[in-house]
Amino acid sequence: MSIRYNEETKQFILETDHTCYQMQVDMLGFLHHLYYGPRVGQNDMSYPYRIYDHGFSGNPYDMRHDRAFSLDSFAQEYTSFGVGDFRVTSIRASCSDGSRCAEFHFTGYEIKNSKYEIPGLPSVYDNGDRVQTLILSLIDSAANIAVKLYYGVFEELDIITRATEIINAGTEIVWLRKASSICLELPFGKWDMVHFYGRHCMERQAERVPLFHGIHTLSSGRGMSSHQHNPFIILCDHAANEDSGLSYGLMLMYSGNHKIEVELDQFDSTRAVMGISDDRFRWELSAGTSFYTPEVILTCANGLTELSHRYHRAIRNNVVRGKFKLSHRPVLINNWEATYFDLNEKKLLSIAEKAKKLGVELFVMDDGWFKNRNDDNAGLGDWVPDLKKLPHGLDGLIEKVNALGLEFGLWIEPEMVNEDSDLFRAHPDWALSAPNRAPMMSRNQLVLDLSREDVYKYLYTTISYLLSQYNITYIKWDFNRSMADVYSRALPSSRQGEVSHRYYLNLYRLYDHLTREFPQVLFEGCAGGGGRFDAGMLAYSPQIWCSDNTDPISRLAIQYGTSFGYPMSAVGAHVSASPNHQTGRLTPLSTRGIVAMSGTFGYELDLDKLSPEELEEMKEQVKRFKEIEPIVHGGLHYRLSTSVDSRHYVAWQFVSEDKSRSLLNIVVTNPLANSAPVHVRLKGLDDQAVYSVNGEFECLGSSLMSAGYTFPQLTGDYPCMQVDIIQIK
Ligand code: GLA
Repeated sequence: MSIRYNEETKQFILETDHTCYQMQVDMLGFLHHLYYGPRVGQNDMSYPYRIYDHGFSGNPYDMRHDRAFSLDSFAQEYTSFGVGDFRVTSIRASCSDGSRCAEFHFTGYEIKNSKYEIPGLPSVYDNGDRVQTLILSLIDSAANIAVKLYYGVFEELDIITRATEIINAGTEIVWLRKASSICLELPFGKWDMVHFYGRHCMERQAERVPLFHGIHTLSSGRGMSSHQHNPFIILCDHAANEDSGLSYGLMLMYSGNHKIEVELDQFDSTRAVMGISDDRFRWELSAGTSFYTPEVILTCANGLTELSHRYHRAIRNNVVRGKFKLSHRPVLINNWEATYFDLNEKKLLSIAEKAKKLGVELFVMDDGWFKNRNDDNAGLGDWVPDLKKLPHGLDGLIEKVNALGLEFGLWIEPEMVNEDSDLFRAHPDWALSAPNRAPMMSRNQLVLDLSREDVYKYLYTTISYLLSQYNITYIKWDFNRSMADVYSRALPSSRQGEVSHRYYLNLYRLYDHLTREFPQVLFEGCAGGGGRFDAGMLAYSPQIWCSDNTDPISRLAIQYGTSFGYPMSAVGAHVSASPNHQTGRLTPLSTRGIVAMSGTFGYELDLDKLSPEELEEMKEQVKRFKEIEPIVHGGLHYRLSTSVDSRHYVAWQFVSEDKSRSLLNIVVTNPLANSAPVHVRLKGLDDQAVYSVNGEFECLGSSLMSAGYTFPQLTGDYPCMQVDIIQIK
């Protein structure tokens, strides 16, 4: 059993194979956080706590004679608010009498032998694993606000998931102003925070900073999880590195506005609060109703690599769903960087024909295929083919692509509308825009108000029509602007603070409906590249276009940052033209190939412009990718270089789960004259096994991991090398 309750000490103990989480209810019913860390056997982890009398940290009324008893210094599972805990709070609400406080007391618990689900929201699911759920109930009986804390304990995955249900247990309306998913306390220790910031074309740049006293906030108010701040952080020991050191991961499974607050307080204690952003959020919670927060996926590991492996496994096996979860992902060619909007049937077929000869399996028609879509000024909303570009319609094109032996995929951006579209002319009120105010424009488009039921129905009908009418086996689902002027004509003024979250509830519902109805379709998420790269989206789209930046050297940093939380099977990656369209950089085809092969692999360039030699090299790449895909998508990924090394080279490795095969990759980002040999220590091999190293020599796994491997000197423009390490004995 992974969850235990000790009646005597009122302690809850949650255990996974390698981690332990403990909480305790005190004599007043406050729920204290005791411990999250490596397994500690039967140890009662309340022992390190000694309470001191702290100035200016007040005391609950019943404990007014004990100056040391203060909510301002206790480690708590979910915070009270307005009653003397002055740190970052996980919940804020106002009651109809105007009061804005609540003090939560424990009322009971429940243990279930399965994983809880969250109504309307994606969550990590039980895949036949050893998993249990703990539900802790708390209440403030003056405000009549109840809280249920959900814990999903996945033993083999070493993952604990958390979500919160907030209930109006009274008879009057309660307005929720903040409803975070979790509060996680790290009462002792000095921590660094690793977070993943960025911008369009440069997503998820890993940055590591020591915590300073105060509140560190990372958030998105852009109506998507965003290019700017991924909803995922790591808190690790100052000394932690890839191989060792206590490291905690906190990943929010949500694609809309989020906020992560990490506070290092006056007593050197760290508190992390994570969930839907409270900026412009206000939820009208009527009597007897509940609000469910998104889920947070927690892990605690020894070193950053182990932490990443836990997320990779959990996402691959317990987040991604459907036919493509663990199976082969088709090698695709996408026409975007080949034609942009200037596409036509003849050109597309010429690319498709060449692609087929390379061994490509799926042809994807990107933006520009529908009515009036000659640039980004018009057309979004009207999902009917442009017969000038596609004289035989979509079916005509698909038939011909299929006749070549390729599957067909289509780009759509269903959540958007151009003012110049039949949809907008018919339903101007369907776009998000505030009254008496010209809306902010971005890429000449507006966001449809998906919090509305009629918009939901329209999108469901339109997309399901496309998928049932045509032989489409892949959809690239794009989202190309941030949300502003978030106001719904379908909701009263008192409920405008609910629009952003209602939007995501309906988006998940739409995705859920479509993925169940069309299980043969592979959905690839996209938001101007990787602007919505999060665990919420991965529940519906097994892969996400990682970035609009296809330059392999930029991609090294983007894919490096992405790899901390997300498996390579989720990373949409293509070989594109050189010079690269985003950076103008010239790189060899081999380097573009090995970088894209560390993701879902495909091409995005004009094959008509390539030489026979280049086409021949690509044919070899496709063959190679199909051979290594199981280890790239299903194996363990190791980062072998740091961001300091990346000024010279980036190296990474894949190892099959059974350790019989490994693939070592390097790209030299800056060839140095007369440099020291580039040397790496391999990881994850079987120490006793003998491996053949690129067919050049044989070596024990233990030697490769201790004495390492020295690369030959690689010179020229961004050279690369892939080394095959295959067990022979
Ligand atoms: C976004 C995507 C690109 C491409 C364009 C089309 O930017 O990320 O890959 O599909 O839209 O407009």
